[in-house]
Amino acid sequence: MNLAAPFAVHVQILQQRLEAALQSQYLDGVVISAGIPHVYFADDMEAHFHPVPHFAHWCPQPGPHHFLVLQPGKKPKLVRWSPQDYWEEHVRPQDAYWCASFDILEVPDSRTGWQSLPTVGRWAYIGPETAIAQEWGFQVETSLLVSHLDWDRGIKTPYEVLCLEEATSLAAQGHLAAKAAFEAGGSEFEIHIAYLQAVQCRDVDLPYTPIVALNEKGAILHYMYKRTAPRNGQVLLLDAGAPHQGYGSDITRTYCTSAAPAEFQDILRGMEKIQQQTCQKVHAGVSFLELHHETHMAIGALLIETQLLRHCSVEEAVTSGKTTTFLPHGLGHMLGIQVHDVGGLQKNALGEPEKRSVQYPRLRTLRKLREGEIVTIEPGFYFIPMLLEKARAEDTTGQLNWPLIDKLRSCGGIRIEDNVHVMANGHRNLTREYLP
Ligand code: GLY
Ligand code: MN
Ligand code: MN
Repeated sequence: MNLAAPFAVHVQILQQRLEAALQSQYLDGVVISAGIPHVYFADDMEAHFHPVPHFAHWCPQPGPHHFLVLQPGKKPKLVRWSPQDYWEEHVRPQDAYWCASFDILEVPDSRTGWQSLPTVGRWAYIGPETAIAQEWGFQVETSLLVSHLDWDRGIKTPYEVLCLEEATSLAAQGHLAAKAAFEAGGSEFEIHIAYLQAVQCRDVDLPYTPIVALNEKGAILHYMYKRTAPRNGQVLLLDAGAPHQGYGSDITRTYCTSAAPAEFQDILRGMEKIQQQTCQKVHAGVSFLELHHETHMAIGALLIETQLLRHCSVEEAVTSGKTTTFLPHGLGHMLGIQVHDVGGLQKNALGEPEKRSVQYPRLRTLRKLREGEIVTIEPGFYFIPMLLEKARAEDTTGQLNWPLIDKLRSCGGIRIEDNVHVMANGHRNLTREYLP
């Protein structure tokens, strides 16, 4: 895919947005740092480097210590840290699709980088080295500027949609390979390797550590281990994305074999239906809080239909918190240059927070969706021991079917997650185009 033309438009759009944001804060410009490596305490090892997201939004240049110098009416400048070094490889593209959008200044060390930055006028600095930036005269209290930029960042440019589409198409190949490895009886570790092989990435290059959970481990929402045993699992929950130019997809599928209990297979089919119905409701103007609530109502109905819950209405299942026992996380989140992208809890560009929901405090976004945003829709249904024990203690009238729950606990959980682009009158489900 040739990204040169869409990238040039992306930078033009970001430039326009930035000019409005700077004007609102009476600033002449902003320097955005690529960030600095994190060195582990009492060690000489560095953590895998993640760029400052505000930098990555503008520029796919990898590595730390670079700066972007951005001001109204001027071509963006990339001050690129290019040390002479035989320990590490420093990737410095000269003719990548994005290079023409920047004036590039190569600097041999970070001090020279700092010395090259503007010194006249009111400039803000976004990045981790605020003490140094302050010494150089930058304004480092940037919360209002950042709120403005984060609010704008919710709306994806056509270039960003293309990157997320590539990230989706790649992850879909990984998911198909992982499904085949699961069906062949593979362990979590083998399924993980099959995924990496298909996407041709090291795991540190993925947007997040994949969750590869067989059976009961599916109930650990952020399960990180990859066991070499057991093999021949009955249920696989796989939450894994793939990268493209700094953007990442975030996709979950749950599969079970015919050996899984029939009741669990029914719940899985029910969850697939609920997830698809929720995706269908996505359009500009719909309240994400409302979608989340409707998902809980649907899960209440599923609990009753599958006889996990008796002598209880759907409304009571939701208001009493019984559905939250099975779905304790939010329906989804913004997706973009960060997996949990910014702006979901903001009410406006000023950064005023949306009022949190008392009933659903875990939601990462609550407000009405805007045209151009990309969100995940990821309802789940889990048998989480800690939450089940609490529910059992509270279930004095025996509404929950404990023998059935105890039978299904070893199946862990279900999550189905798609990435959905919000349109004026509907949506585009990027994930289903590649992973039906
Ligand atoms: N993979 C993390 C999440 O789904 O939010
Ligand atoms: Mn996920
Ligand atoms: Mn997600």
